[in-house]
Amino acid sequence: MSEDPILFVKKNLNVPIILVGMMGVGKTSIGQGLAQKLGWGFKDSDRVIEQKAGMPVSDIFTDFGEEKFRASEKSTILELLKEKPQVIATGGGAVLDEDTRYAIKNRALSIWLQADIDYIYERVSKNNNRPLLQTDNPLETLSALMEKRRVYYENADLQLDTTKNSIDESVYELIKLIYGFLSRH
Ligand code: S3P
Repeated sequence: MSEDPILFVKKNLNVPIILVGMMGVGKTSIGQGLAQKLGWGFKDSDRVIEQKAGMPVSDIFTDFGEEKFRASEKSTILELLKEKPQVIATGGGAVLDEDTRYAIKNRALSIWLQADIDYIYERVSKNNNRPLLQTDNPLETLSALMEKRRVYYENADLQLDTTKNSIDESVYELIKLIYGFLSRH
């Protein structure tokens, strides 16, 4: 790297960075860390949806159902992608929507944060705020969701396995990856 990678990314990237991937991989904490390093803003689409609805995601699922949540998720992400470049963390199911996938492909630099399923399970087991995992066998549910979504996650511009990394290590690796991507394009 001939130039400071952070400065290089700040100078050369003029679209939002959007993090996709399964629940529990660290999109929010890594996204916040990345935004801080770049001096960019950070938004988590789930938090924006909660602010709009005035209730937690789990209550939106219970009171209005997944379909309503997905509609709000789609409009929220499309809005966030129109704001000035920032780091956006998405909910794990955001890629299920075709229009969202199209907007991500065309208006952002997308990064798939991935991790081993056992690591994800350990992380999401710490609280029960994930409505889709309120099943008899959450590990099996997680694996099934992962397999269904993998094909969409794989479309991201870049990918990083966060399993063995601390948050700081993942942020550092992401900056190196983005630097490499921008140098090639
Ligand atoms: C979901 C993931 C959650 C949240 C909602 C649905 C999913 O976000 O959007 O519970 O479908 O995987 P995180 O990925 O931030 O946990």
